[in-house]
Amino acid sequence: MSVLIRGVRCYGEGDRVEVLVQDGQIAEIGADLGTPAGCDVVEAPGQVLLPGFVDLHTHLREPGREYTEDIETGSAAAALGGYTAVFAMANTDPVADSPVVTDHVWQRGRQVGLVDVHPVGAVTVGLGGTQLTEMGMMAAGAAGVRMFSDDGVCVADPLVMRRALEYATGLGVLIAQHAEEPRLTVGSVAHEGPNAARLGLAGWPRVAEESIVARDVLLARDAGARLHICHASTAGTVELLKWAKAQGISVTAEVTPHHLMLDDSRLADYDGRNRVNPPLREAADAAALRQALADGVIDCVATDHAPHAEHEKACEFAVARPGMLGLETALSVVVATMVAPGLLSWRDVARVMSERPAQIVGLPDQGRPLEVGEPANLTVVDPEASWVVAGDRLASRSANTPYEAMTLPAAVTATLLRGRVTARDGKIPA
Ligand code: DOR
Ligand code: ZN
Repeated sequence: MSVLIRGVRCYGEGDRVEVLVQDGQIAEIGADLGTPAGCDVVEAPGQVLLPGFVDLHTHLREPGREYTEDIETGSAAAALGGYTAVFAMANTDPVADSPVVTDHVWQRGRQVGLVDVHPVGAVTVGLGGTQLTEMGMMAAGAAGVRMFSDDGVCVADPLVMRRALEYATGLGVLIAQHAEEPRLTVGSVAHEGPNAARLGLAGWPRVAEESIVARDVLLARDAGARLHICHASTAGTVELLKWAKAQGISVTAEVTPHHLMLDDSRLADYDGRNRVNPPLREAADAAALRQALADGVIDCVATDHAPHAEHEKACEFAVARPGMLGLETALSVVVATMVAPGLLSWRDVARVMSERPAQIVGLPDQGRPLEVGEPANLTVVDPEASWVVAGDRLASRSANTPYEAMTLPAAVTATLLRGRVTARDGKIPA
């Protein structure tokens, strides 16, 4: 089966070209390739061709909370969002703390076949924070787990974190930290600041994140380990990352689309859809995060796609579950916050949504250059499109998008995984 993508500009640069995809690879790029017999043609005049997106942080909820999402619905959301690989977080039920669970997630992802679903293994048994998991067993299993995180909770005990970094370094795998000192966030539901104070919401101070980032970059330095910081949310975290990178410490970081675009002024109506962990911060934090992503201090965008059911969100703010959908809106939010104001070019979008995340976890076949002979993991984007977000029309089983009724720019028009079209014009091909 071959696919001909017509009229695209690679990285949104240069002349329009035709890209022929055969046997899972980019076979030819040229001005006029003709149409080989039996070729599926994707017409994309003036659209942007990018390497398929890689999401280091997504919650697919299988096993355990399939009423909010499962690997099939989450994979569809990922493909429609332009993703060709996603990392499924370990805070499932049961927790992904053994090869039984991580291999199930991997196999189920292969069966569905819309996106490469890489399970993230837990750092501690049951996310309990005390006993390290058998990371080596999960790394050696069918899933070849390469990233470990207790995301949802922080590896708070410094000795456990130190041992985890040492163990991971020996195995050549990555520890991703959800940076939240739990003693500083007991009962917290919103960013600690004037808005939360006025609204009577218990505050989650920036220092709860920053104290763990500061501690962990020092632990990583001493262990000679690599460390990845999940969902950076404060201007202070940006300063710490800048400092750590200047010291040569091997730290990388991600930012979510919602922390780039939204701030805590949205909490005024107590809508549970705006509850997320870490919380929406102040406008100045969002501005610092955008600048850090543009400067490369923050390496990449990761969605923290976190599906929750209607009854878990449409309730008092303080009891609403934290988390927001992200897979199907990420590209548009990055365009609105970063491309439209001139902070990132399309080539930079390829860097922060595909190349850097693939490098951070060491995926050899993702985030590759748009060149002949490379694997055809591709995303086609219409930069002129705009669309109105409606949670109930998303492919995700849940509808908890914070962008409800917003008009967002740009749309993913096609996604290819190893040369197979996995999404097209907003639909999953039959
Ligand atoms: O908002 C969040 N939701 N933050 C997390 O760390 C976990 C996630 C979830 O699993 O719902
Ligand atoms: Zn998290």
